[in-house]
Amino acid sequence: MRAAIFLLLFCVVGLALGVDQTNFKTCDQSSFCRRVRKLQPGNSKFALVPGTLNTYSDSVTADIIHKDNQHLFVFKLEALQGNTFRVLIDEKSPLRPRYKVEHALKDTPRPGTIKVLNEDGNQLTIVSGSNKAVIIGDPFRIDFYQDDVLSVSVNAKGLMNFEYLRTKPNTEAKNEVDGNVEAAAPAEATPDAQNAVKPAEDEDPGAWEENFKSHHDSKPYGPEAVALDFSFPEAEVLFGIPEHADSFVLKSTSGTDPYRLYNLDVFEYLIDSKMALYGSIPLIYGHGTQRTAGVYWQNAAETWVDIYTASNNVVSSIVNFVSRSRKADPPAAQFISESGIIDAFILLGPTPMDTFKQYTDLTGTGNLPQLYSLAYHQCRWNYNDEKDVETVSENFDLYDIPMDTMWLDIEYTDAKKYFTWDQYKFPNPLNMIKNLTDLGRHLVIIIDPHIKRDTGYFFHNDCTERGYYVKHADNRDYEGWCWPGAASYPDFFNPEVRKYYSDQYLLSNFKTVTSDVMFWNDMNEPSVFNGPEVTMYKDLIHYGNWEHRDVHNLYGHMYIWGTFDGLIKRDPNQRPFILTRAFFAGSQRYAAIWTGDNTADWGHLQHSIKMCLTAAVSGLSFCGADVGGFFGNPDPELFERWYQTGAFLPFFRSHAHIDTKRREPWLYPEKTRLVIQDAIRKRYAYLPLWYTMFYEHEIDGGPVVRPLLAHYPKDKDAFGIDNSFLLQDRLLVRPVLQQGVSKVDVYFPAIDDKKTGDLWYDVDTYQRYEKSGYESIPVNDYKVPVFQRGGTIVPRKERHRRTSLLMQNDPYTLIVCLDREGKANGTLYIDDEKSYGYRKGNYIHVNFAFENYRLTNHFIGTPKYDSKSWIERLVIAGLEKVPKSATIVIDGISKQLDVLQQGKAVIIRKPGVHVRMDFSLRLNN
Ligand code: NOJ
Repeated sequence: MRAAIFLLLFCVVGLALGVDQTNFKTCDQSSFCRRVRKLQPGNSKFALVPGTLNTYSDSVTADIIHKDNQHLFVFKLEALQGNTFRVLIDEKSPLRPRYKVEHALKDTPRPGTIKVLNEDGNQLTIVSGSNKAVIIGDPFRIDFYQDDVLSVSVNAKGLMNFEYLRTKPNTEAKNEVDGNVEAAAPAEATPDAQNAVKPAEDEDPGAWEENFKSHHDSKPYGPEAVALDFSFPEAEVLFGIPEHADSFVLKSTSGTDPYRLYNLDVFEYLIDSKMALYGSIPLIYGHGTQRTAGVYWQNAAETWVDIYTASNNVVSSIVNFVSRSRKADPPAAQFISESGIIDAFILLGPTPMDTFKQYTDLTGTGNLPQLYSLAYHQCRWNYNDEKDVETVSENFDLYDIPMDTMWLDIEYTDAKKYFTWDQYKFPNPLNMIKNLTDLGRHLVIIIDPHIKRDTGYFFHNDCTERGYYVKHADNRDYEGWCWPGAASYPDFFNPEVRKYYSDQYLLSNFKTVTSDVMFWNDMNEPSVFNGPEVTMYKDLIHYGNWEHRDVHNLYGHMYIWGTFDGLIKRDPNQRPFILTRAFFAGSQRYAAIWTGDNTADWGHLQHSIKMCLTAAVSGLSFCGADVGGFFGNPDPELFERWYQTGAFLPFFRSHAHIDTKRREPWLYPEKTRLVIQDAIRKRYAYLPLWYTMFYEHEIDGGPVVRPLLAHYPKDKDAFGIDNSFLLQDRLLVRPVLQQGVSKVDVYFPAIDDKKTGDLWYDVDTYQRYEKSGYESIPVNDYKVPVFQRGGTIVPRKERHRRTSLLMQNDPYTLIVCLDREGKANGTLYIDDEKSYGYRKGNYIHVNFAFENYRLTNHFIGTPKYDSKSWIERLVIAGLEKVPKSATIVIDGISKQLDVLQQGKAVIIRKPGVHVRMDFSLRLNN
């Protein structure tokens, strides 16, 4: 069977090295992208209809007209709380309702209030808090100001487009286009278009049906694209729109295809590419030294994004140079979606962190994960049987390498029927699970959305009988190919299907796992090996009679929502862990992501940072890449450096393709094994920091991993840096990402335009760096260049254990790195690491502050969690001289402590203070 599937894969996606790009559309091969891209800037046909304006306490509405075809639209501008606006445009009387995205926002956005400032002929100005929106009537445009600074302009380039729904012209003549048979352009458009200039959609041969390779898209509703441009007058760089294997800062699309957002299973994807990948978040940011702003384009259909950088246009960049003004031709993006409505959230910042939080305010933050899921995961396709799982687990202990979670890929199932086990390889899963959990380990198993069409399979029979599968327009169940062979795809948009699916996770149904087993949802783009572009046909029908075209990018999101619900039903007091490959805006509420099927080469290692940084600013902090690379066999050096990088990215899992050589650490030379052990131990030492950061992410939405510009918004030289990242504002990580190097150039960012730097301390040596700019740091095989910012305190746990569970009661070390004023502070978060008790206040959240040679703690809220941990050690870096001693006062009782010098830091051992106690510790000089 597997041979057949590989043969199929070979035919469908090609087994050559690197993606076969001909399997995926270019903009020119996609009718709506091709026709919308023909629009030229500066020629907008849309205008507000005079006399239709209405103002309400939080919004304004008006009609918009297309001046050539006279078609009418309704426009609404809503002010929301938190420097955010929402722009909605739909047809006034569409032939049928147009799809509006549901389930991406966490709930209804909180309305703000508006005041009309003035209204004159062609222009209306409204004010909402410190924000202002100027709506210009003809041509239609909106300028958004934050604190009187123009931050986002909507339709300033005049690239708005809105193809209204129309009846199909009865011209049946066929044209031959590029070897594909496509419908001819209609002789006449709709009645209201008579005597008008024909829009591009009436001229394009693919508007009413379209072929790609052997696949036909019937397009029963014809052209229905929407597009709009957003300019960022204050920006120097644009970033966002995951998922692409590209630089953090977006590149100009002049002369290339636009970036594409269409969830796709891309076999052996390329790096430095604008091609679509597994997930889509239509969210973009514009950032400059003074301001950041963002736009969330809420549309789940296939979307292309054109990027205009200031250098696109040579003439205007000369003008910019001469006038020293960016504003003449600022960076801009045009979103082009195949269907749906215009629904855009304007995030006015003004700082990068404000803007990131405005987005998570709308779509939610990631839930605090169970602590073990932040530790190290061991995966491969596949661990073959129960013995294999046991041996791998034992070997981690034998070689003294921490490991928390074993993973099982698709081969554990009975013939790729999910919720079943292969009875020969895994005759006793409960026993296997118990063996792992007895050691403090966990198991994660894969469950995919394709359902094997097998009349002996309960899931298939239930879905067939109850009509749960995605359907063809004639109501037949859709059938495609995936791992099980013939498969169908449940329609997770249907609440009844989601309920059925989520019920399968109940232990009364899935009896061969325990509530400690968690799940990996893969292939949920959805991947269909024999479908167009390895996914579903766009004219398939979902719940509510929506076409797949309308909802494609949401399919995976709906699926993981079902999984999340299932796990909550299974055990309401245990936080679910789910890993998903496909995602959309809001998916952070349910799952972690990884960057899919990367390759064992240095370029893919480098892209793991770029891709996770982009995901993190788009709400998805819990991101990682397959350590070692999925395809191919990493040589020892690449493998070592990949572990070192993975150890500092949020989701840390080694994974490999079934055809690769086994690569458990002990199968490599001893030195490699020791380097890997060291990297994983570094991860475990920082688990208290990871856990604290994820808690704070849940609370305030700030990304856990951050680009340098998040905290150094004024340093232009930092904007494009994507080989380094920050963990909150505490650590700067710049892993070794190149072969054979003995030093790396680390960029220390500047706080201001005078190039003042923060102080940074090498976390291994406490060597201090004081200047901004590049610094050459020597590296040996073990070195991971990581620096703690002066002014921060970082908690660590330093005992070596087999798993994170066994570290639960271990003592803490606080690393205090002083700033130029001799101050530092930092938080620590502690709870039971597993349950939702923390939502009821059962936690400890404490801030430590160091000032005037004194360290004190301050609890944020009442410390309720009954932790057994103590503070075992303090490390203080940045003192001018070694203090003679220290005095700690706990509960009015003082105790004298020794201070030791260790390299460039001082150590205070055994302050003997419990994490729930107030204390004050003074250094005696
Ligand atoms: C594709 C996933 O990206 C990969 O990680 C997994 O091993 C295979 N599917 C098999 O399940």
